[in-house]
Amino acid sequence: MNNRVEIDQTNVAVSHLEGYSLTPLDHTLVPRVAKFEFDGSSIPRFWQGEVFATRMFDAMQLAFPDGERMFIHAVRNYADKVTDPVLKEQVKHFIFQEAQHGMAHTDFTETLTKQGLKVKGVVKFIKKGMLLFQDKAPHKYQLASTVAAEHLTASLGEFMLSTENNLLSNADPKMKAFYMWHGIEEVEHKAVAFDVYQQVAGGGYFTRSLALALMYPMAIFPLMAGTMAMMHVDGELSIKELRKGVIAMFGKQGIWRKTFPAVMSFYNPSFHPWQTGYPKGFHEWKKAYEETNGDMEAAMYAAESAVSG
Ligand SMILES: [Fe+2]
Ligand SMILES: [Fe+2]
Repeated sequence: MNNRVEIDQTNVAVSHLEGYSLTPLDHTLVPRVAKFEFDGSSIPRFWQGEVFATRMFDAMQLAFPDGERMFIHAVRNYADKVTDPVLKEQVKHFIFQEAQHGMAHTDFTETLTKQGLKVKGVVKFIKKGMLLFQDKAPHKYQLASTVAAEHLTASLGEFMLSTENNLLSNADPKMKAFYMWHGIEEVEHKAVAFDVYQQVAGGGYFTRSLALALMYPMAIFPLMAGTMAMMHVDGELSIKELRKGVIAMFGKQGIWRKTFPAVMSFYNPSFHPWQTGYPKGFHEWKKAYEETNGDMEAAMYAAESAVSG
């Protein structure tokens, strides 16, 4: 793949671990301020155009703010030990980006509350779980979990931009731009935690593999439960809707089925997040974002036309 370039080993200050990264040498992370404003009335209740997909995203995003704070915490535990200047800069921007995601998704959670969904208790429960994990789990395991979660989010981000799916095709433009921004940044910083884990924390294959094995089912099953709970409040929980949902998740074109091979590539001992390179539409999104002074919707349309064109 054209974009795969090994970092010149002379630039990798931490060499005792044979520091190795496939992050393209000219790759840059951009700290972007999230400018989304959600007021309940301007977002359609079923912003994906149908119930299950909307509520699956809504349920998933409840875990983002505290999850992302946990990722920041896990990387920060090692930030002082990062001596390579490129990785140091990337860590700084990674923290900025995840903090922005957390704030924007917290804001969106308010919209759900306005819709009558009692999500505050769930968010509190997630927060408690994350804080306990941050307090009790070994630092290396926290980072391994972050690496695993980052692989999931980057795989979803890359899937979102792929040509063969209709993941957000009927979504409200504002929401589509919101998720596209998050997905693009997940791709942009996909290797930061991994490089810290491998080059600085001395993290190995076994621990990261275990972290993904424990996290993957945890990402899917509570998500299904949360989605169904929301549909119940909506008065939309029916066999017909659930059937549609299961197909959307696990059917031939289903999000979890289609992303499964990408997720499993993590179990290759020589895995590196940049082995998949840049997805289509990525550079176009960045270019349009810069040219329009941060217009997320314009960037989204630029990526979309690059992907479909
Ligand atoms: Fe994020
Ligand atoms: Fe991330």
